[in-house]
Amino acid sequence: MRDTAFDLVVIGAGPGGYVAASKAAQLGLKVACIDKSYLGGTCLNVGCIPSKALLESSALFYRAKKGLGHHGIGQSEVGLDLRAMMARKEKIVQTMTKGIEGLFKGRGVTHFFGKGQVAPGSVSVQGAGGEQMLTAKHILLATGSTPVELPNLPFDGEHVISSTEALTLKKVPERLVVIGGGAIGLELGSVWSRLGAQVLVVEAMEQILPGMDQEMAQQLERLLKRQGLKFLLGAKAQAVAIAEGRVTLTIAAGDQERAETCDQVLVAVGRKPCSAGLGLEEMGVAINERGQVLVDAQGRTNVEGIWAIGDLVPGAMLAHKAEAEGVAVAERMAGRAGQVNYEAIPSVVYTHPELASVGASEEEATAAGHEVAIGKYPFRGNARAHCMDDIDGLVKVVAEAHTDQLLGMHILGPQASHLIAEGVLALEFGASAEDVGRTVHAHPALSEVVGEAARAAVP
Ligand code: FAD
Ligand code: NAI
Repeated sequence: MRDTAFDLVVIGAGPGGYVAASKAAQLGLKVACIDKSYLGGTCLNVGCIPSKALLESSALFYRAKKGLGHHGIGQSEVGLDLRAMMARKEKIVQTMTKGIEGLFKGRGVTHFFGKGQVAPGSVSVQGAGGEQMLTAKHILLATGSTPVELPNLPFDGEHVISSTEALTLKKVPERLVVIGGGAIGLELGSVWSRLGAQVLVVEAMEQILPGMDQEMAQQLERLLKRQGLKFLLGAKAQAVAIAEGRVTLTIAAGDQERAETCDQVLVAVGRKPCSAGLGLEEMGVAINERGQVLVDAQGRTNVEGIWAIGDLVPGAMLAHKAEAEGVAVAERMAGRAGQVNYEAIPSVVYTHPELASVGASEEEATAAGHEVAIGKYPFRGNARAHCMDDIDGLVKVVAEAHTDQLLGMHILGPQASHLIAEGVLALEFGASAEDVGRTVHAHPALSEVVGEAARAAVP
């Protein structure tokens, strides 16, 4: 008979839930973690990790296909074995899932497979072996999110698909239409475009990645167009018809309507929180009109002992944000101070080049009333970028004109996901653009571009 009394029961083993469970156990709490599907949540199984595995493989394929002759490397025909590419991705997911299993074992977290539902002071787990009741002093909701479905384009899993199916296609589509020019649309659109599909991205707004620094998003759009992706901005899919395995989409752009035929439509218009069926209404847990669970600055809901984090609550839907919240709530439950600095959460779109960003965009800083000083430097001016054959993009630094305080950093370029860590740290420590500019960067390195852009922002 397994123990059923815990200090903390976590519902959801995604990056929010599993990190919270393991941190709380490390701090001495007796912890259970429930998940109905898998360890690692969306991120590890159908999100961050499989998408990055395919992005890496497809980037290699694209580069090899384009030719390495200018490096003096000859090659015979480059072929694609999609099955092997998918198998490599699955192996990475399995390895990482096993890692969480090991982490739970090492820290003494009890793991239950089943659907969790809250009741006063307890959680029921509906699993293969029937129902079990667990009692808990604290309950942490970390049930994450699922893809948004468009009412006029319902998912059928074959022709109208979500990101989950787009990570497991058995064949490269000849034509793929992606609805939504956000992170998923651009990343998975890039994967299939590199592998040979003709990709059209249909975005409702007049800019891809709305919310990102406008200039950087426009530069990325230009570079993606050069790679063969097509974009239709200010446009929405109206209707879909499927006949003989082909999809015909009606798309409205302004007062124009056009039809597009393709093999698959990937709908990537956002994700919605998984708050239904958890027993929250019955418990009186406050939820907003978007289904997000409302929490205070500490991650507490309005019901004593119930906490929530990650994609389930308002804010950025990012794995590292969920993880940071998981650590902070675990610390608070253990009587320690937990802290998440929401002003310094990076966001990265893993296209080629990558677009990474932290803090305010130029538009946001201006709208907030700041007089801004902008510093920019292109990768084209960096020797290491030339050696790497990767010279597209730039670093843009946004600073307060009078105080020189760093407000934001935006990097479009090779390895931007790694380079942005410097901007995150600088914001975390309240640095000025001059502080970043005077920091000595190794030579030759891509990070020199960050230093140059910061110096360019200093009057
Ligand atoms: P989730 O990871 O969604 O985990 C929630 C877990 O709860 C799931 O395992 C689910 O099975 C379980 N669950 C739900 N309801 C119940 C229930 N009633 N009982 C028991 N268990 C339940 N973010 C990044 O930061 N970087 C990226 O590169 C990135 N790439 C992405 C690529 C794709 C294709 C997608 C779809 C998402 C990507 N994201 C990325 C977003 C990231 O995956 C999420 O922000 C992150 O997974 C949220 O973590 P979470 O713990 O809140 O929820
Ligand atoms: P998103 O919110 O990032 O982008 C959705 C896009 O679709 C927006 O640009 C929006 O304007 C557009 N849109 C909405 N309705 C539309 C319509 N009817 N027609 C055309 N366009 C429409 O959502 P996305 O890309 O689905 O990603 C979901 C979540 O997953 C995001 O919050 C994102 O942060 C996270 N994610 C993060 C990644 C990363 O960090 N690299 C990678 C993939 C996902």
